[in-house]
Amino acid sequence: MKNTVIVGAQFGDEGKAKITDILADKADFIIRYQGGCNAGHTVVANGQTYKFHLIPSGLLYENKTCFIGPGVVIHPDSFEKELNDLVEQGVSREHIEKTLRICPLAHITMPYHIDIDRYSEDMLEDVTKIGTTKKGIGPTYADKFNRLGIKVEDLFSPETLDKKLDTTLAVKNRELSGSFGQKPYSKQLLLMLCKEYKKLLEPFVSFGWQDVLRDAKKGKTILFEGAQGVLLDVDYGTYPYVTSSNPIGGGAAVGSGMGPLSIQEVLGVFKAYMTRVGEGPFITELNDETGDEIRKIGTEFGVTTGRPRRCGYFDAVMAKYSVLAGGLSSAAITKLDIFDSFDEVKVCTAYRNKKTDEVVTYYPTNVYVHSDYEPIYESFPGWKTDITGCKTYNELPENARKYIEKLEGILEIPVSIVGVGPGREQVIFRQA
Ligand code: GDP
Ligand code: IMO
Ligand code: MG
Repeated sequence: MKNTVIVGAQFGDEGKAKITDILADKADFIIRYQGGCNAGHTVVANGQTYKFHLIPSGLLYENKTCFIGPGVVIHPDSFEKELNDLVEQGVSREHIEKTLRICPLAHITMPYHIDIDRYSEDMLEDVTKIGTTKKGIGPTYADKFNRLGIKVEDLFSPETLDKKLDTTLAVKNRELSGSFGQKPYSKQLLLMLCKEYKKLLEPFVSFGWQDVLRDAKKGKTILFEGAQGVLLDVDYGTYPYVTSSNPIGGGAAVGSGMGPLSIQEVLGVFKAYMTRVGEGPFITELNDETGDEIRKIGTEFGVTTGRPRRCGYFDAVMAKYSVLAGGLSSAAITKLDIFDSFDEVKVCTAYRNKKTDEVVTYYPTNVYVHSDYEPIYESFPGWKTDITGCKTYNELPENARKYIEKLEGILEIPVSIVGVGPGREQVIFRQA
C-alpha cells in the first residue's frame, strides 16, 4: 500500500475512521495530524462499536504504531475518558501503552480554552454562531498561533511551565473577566492540573519521536488520519463556519512531522450524500421528508455531541472543489447503502443564482453569497436492493454502479473504495 492520507472530503463524518481502520491493517504507522477531541470517529469491528476522538483509528491492530502528531491538540480529560472507554470495551491498557505514542510538540487544550469556546458561542448572535463542538478547539489553536500555548513537553518542564503560565494566565484571565465576566484561574490550580496531565500522558509521550519518525520513513507504510473535512478547513472551507486546523491533504505534511515527500496518495472520503453539524451554509440541505429519511436510515447524529446532522444530496460542485483544495488523488464513497430503499437519488451538478438566474458550476468560496444559490439536480433511478452484503463491485446493482460512475466522472479521480455498511467487512475495493 502507498503512504496514504485519509481526508474528509465534505463537512466531516464521512466515514474516515472506518476507512482508516480497514487500511490500517496494511500499514505500520498510523498518524493523526490535526484537530482534537472535536472529532468523533466510529469503527465497527469485532462485534463492537468503538468511538475514537484523539486516538488514531488504527489502534485495534497488533504490532502497529499509532502516533498523535504535533498538529493535534489534546484535551487531557477527553483523552482519559477515551482511554477508559476503550479499556471498558476490552482493549487492554497494555496494548494501548505499547501501540500509542504522543508527540511532545502537540498542544494542550486547557480548561480556559473550553470556557472561552463555550462563552463565546453562547454570547454570539444566531447569525454569527459557528455551532462549535465546545471542546475548546478554536481557542487552543488561537493560543498556539499567538505563541501562548502550553505544549505536552512543557508539562515535563516545571520551570518553563511556571513561566509560561505567568504570561498566558495574565492574558487569559483578562479575557475571561473582561469579555465574559468570569472568575480568573489561579496559577496554583493550573499547576496542579498540569501535574495530573503529566501523570496521565507520561506512559504515551514519545521523547524519542524524532527517531520514531525517522524509522517510519525507512520503508514503513504510513497512514495519515485526518479529522473533520475539506469544507471545514480553516483556509479552504466555508470560513468562518470551519474548524481551526487544516484537514486537507497538505495538512498531513505539516501536522505529522513526516514532510510532503512521504505522501504518495491522498484518499478523499465522501458520503454518497452530504451531512453537516453546526452552523454554516449547505446548499443541498434538505429540510423535508427526504432529509429526515436520510438522517433516520443513516443514523446521522454526532458522535461527539449527539446533535442531529443536517442532511442533503451529494453536492458535486462542492466535491470538485474539494478534490482541488484537498489535493485528492482518489476517492472512497461511503454509505451507498443508505439509498437502498430510495426510488431516486439526486446529485447537484450546478447552482442557480436565484436573483440573476445565472447558472454556475464553479464553487463560490464567498460563503455569504451561498444563500443566493439553489441546487440544480440530476436525478438517477434508485436500485431498490439491499447492497449491504455485496462483496465485489460487479455484485452491486447496475443503478448503484451507474451512480458511483457518475460521481467518478465528475470528480475526475478514481473511486477506489465503496462503503456498503458500517462493518469493517462491508467495503468494496475497486480495481485501479
Ligand atoms: P468520521 O468522523 O468520518 O470517522 O465518521 P463518523 O464516525 O462520525 O460517522 C460515520 C458513520 O457512518 C459511523 O456511524 C460509521 O459507523 C458509519 N459508516 C461508515 N461507513 C459506512 C457505510 O458504508 N455504510 C453505513 N451504513 N454506515 C457507514
Ligand atoms: P470528524 O473528525 C463534523 C464542526 C462543528 C462546527 C465546526 C467548528 O468526526 O469528521 P470546532 O469544535 O471544531 O471549533 O467546531 O466544525 N466539526 C465537525 N463536524 N465532524 C467533525 O469531526 C467535526 N469537528 C468539528 O460542528 O460546525
Ligand atoms: Mg465524525
